[in-house]
Order: sequence, then C-alpha cells, then structure tokens
Amino acid sequence: MIRHIVVVGSGVMGRGIAYVSAAGGFTTTLVDIKEEQLESAKKEIDSIFEKAVALNKMTESAKLEGQARLSYSTDLVDAAKGADLVIEAVPEKLEIKKQIFETIDAHAPETCYFATNTSTMSPTEIASFTKRPEKVIAMHFFNPVHKMKLVEIIRGLETSDETAEVIEQVAEQMGKETVTVNEFPGFVTSRISALIGNEAFYMLQEGVGTPEQIDKAIKLGLNFPMGPFELADLVGLDARLNNLKYLHEKLGEKYRPAPLLEQYVKAGRLGRKTGKGVYDYTNKQ
Ligand SMILES: NC(=O)c1ccc[n+]([C@@H]2O[C@H](COP(=O)([O-])OP(=O)(O)OC[C@H]3O[C@@H](n4cnc5c(N)ncnc54)[C@H](O)[C@@H]3O)[C@@H](O)[C@H]2O)c1
Repeated sequence: MIRHIVVVGSGVMGRGIAYVSAAGGFTTTLVDIKEEQLESAKKEIDSIFEKAVALNKMTESAKLEGQARLSYSTDLVDAAKGADLVIEAVPEKLEIKKQIFETIDAHAPETCYFATNTSTMSPTEIASFTKRPEKVIAMHFFNPVHKMKLVEIIRGLETSDETAEVIEQVAEQMGKETVTVNEFPGFVTSRISALIGNEAFYMLQEGVGTPEQIDKAIKLGLNFPMGPFELADLVGLDARLNNLKYLHEKLGEKYRPAPLLEQYVKAGRLGRKTGKGVYDYTNKQ
C-alpha cells in the first residue's frame, strides 16, 4: 500500500506532481538540491491549492489537509528512507538520473517502488541502475500536471505486473487517467509532440510564417488546443531540445533538432520559465 511518496526535483514537473500527490491523499515529500527551487515550488503549489478552493474544486479544509501532507527537503537520503514510492523528475540527463536512482536504491526500503517522469528515456536502462528492476517504471505526467488528465505509464523490460498495477492505482488516486504502453524511445506522446514542435521550428526558420501565424493555423485548422510554439514555451525549449537530441540519436534523421531551436536555447530563451522563449512573457502575467 502506498502512503508516502517522495518526488525528486521540484522544477516545472516535480512541483505539479507533488501537488497532485498531496491533493490525492498521499503524504508527500518534495526534494531538490536547490533551496530556492523548493521555495518557488512551495509558492506555486500553495497558489494552485488557493485557486482550487476559489474555483470550488476543493474545500478549505481539504486544502489545509493537503498542504499539511506536503513537506519540502534538500535531503534525498533521509526522505528515501521513509518512502513507499519515489517519483523522479530531475532534468532529462542520464547521468543525473543514474545518480538519483543509485542513491534511492541504496536508502529506500526494499519494498519501495521507483518511477521516472522521463519524457523519452528507457525505463529499462534507468531500472538497471538499481537492484530492483521489477519495481521500476516510467510514470509520464504532462504539463501543467494539475490540469492534464493523462499519466502515460511505460513498462521496462523487467517491470512486474504488480508494479504496473500499483502505479496505475496511484495515478488514479491522483485523479488521472492512465494508458500503459510498452517501451520504445519517445513512447507515444513525446515522439509525436517532439516531431510536431521541431517541424514548427523548421517552418519558422524557413520563413513560412510568424510564430503567431503558425500557432493560429495549427489551433484553428487542426483543432489543437495550443499552438506548437505556445506548447514549446510551456514545456521549456531546453527540455524539448534534450528530447529531440535523444530521439535523433535513437530513431534517426527525422528527429534532427532544428538549428533555430538550438539557437534559442543557446541564447537562454527557454520559454515561460525564463520569461522569454519563442514569445516574450516579461510584460505578461
Ligand atoms: N517540462 C515538461 O513539460 C515535461 C513534461 C513531461 C516530462 N518531463 C520530464 O520531467 C523531468 C523534469 O523536467 P522539468 O521540466 O520539470 O525540469 P526542470 O529543469 O524544470 O526541473 C528539474 C529540477 O530538478 C532539480 N535537480 C537537479 N538535479 C537534482 C538532484 N541531483 N537532486 C534533486 N533535484 C535535482 C533542479 O534543481 C530542478 O529544480 C525531465 O525528465 C523531463 O524530460 C518534462
């Protein structure tokens, strides 16, 4: 039975996962190496709780109970000791993920399950960093986590049926729908999304249209809720570029990152989180 969830990484995704975890009734510890990231995560999570009350989606007492279930820490070793499930949401870099999985494997109870929120990487390879590959799985949340309905669950080669069932139940208790698929680079959603987003950058580079025109065409013509540039700014251009590099390496030429995307990342235009990506957010809310 899962009672205590530890979320590692309090960035764009980790803070959202910690919110749905605490709101779903799990005792939750959000861990990061950076104190300032945890402070900014706490502010954002508290404002999501406030908004849920203001919209009558949550009672005041449920909000207070949810907030009381949530704690923040820079000590992964200590947090792992009491965990039933650890969900990793650190940057999409294999060496960072490896270090996290080795640490939690050494300190979490033997019964603890591990999930990675990787967008593209192999849960089988991530599981190989531990001595419990049958308890490791990918739990792919979407941004913004508190609004998006799906958790895409990806089984690694050695993931047990029991682990997949437990993780489906956890996601459902967090208020999510699940789709459980087999491992292949990019799974279902990241593969399609990276391809569309990359193609939009090639179009921009070729001068086909402005970001506004391309986004409008895709939204109104293809009935997408967001344009590819709006989505890239939300996801983070660095995160998108990392995904594409991985898919390019694994699946070939079709996924070669657009040079313009690489240039935006080099310029530090990473999207909403830095105030400027394809669009400029510095004067907007
Ligand atoms: N951004 C998205 O829309 C999105 C969607 C689905 C999945 N993902 C995946 O989720 C993961 C996290 O992405 P993100 O966009 O939230 O990244 P982010 O850069 O916003 O946040 C990463 C956080 O991890 C922390 N961190 C780095 N090293 C750490 C360590 N050793 N221990 C603890 N914390 C550490 C950083 O301080 C930062 O707060 C990635 O694997 C990404 O591919 C991202």
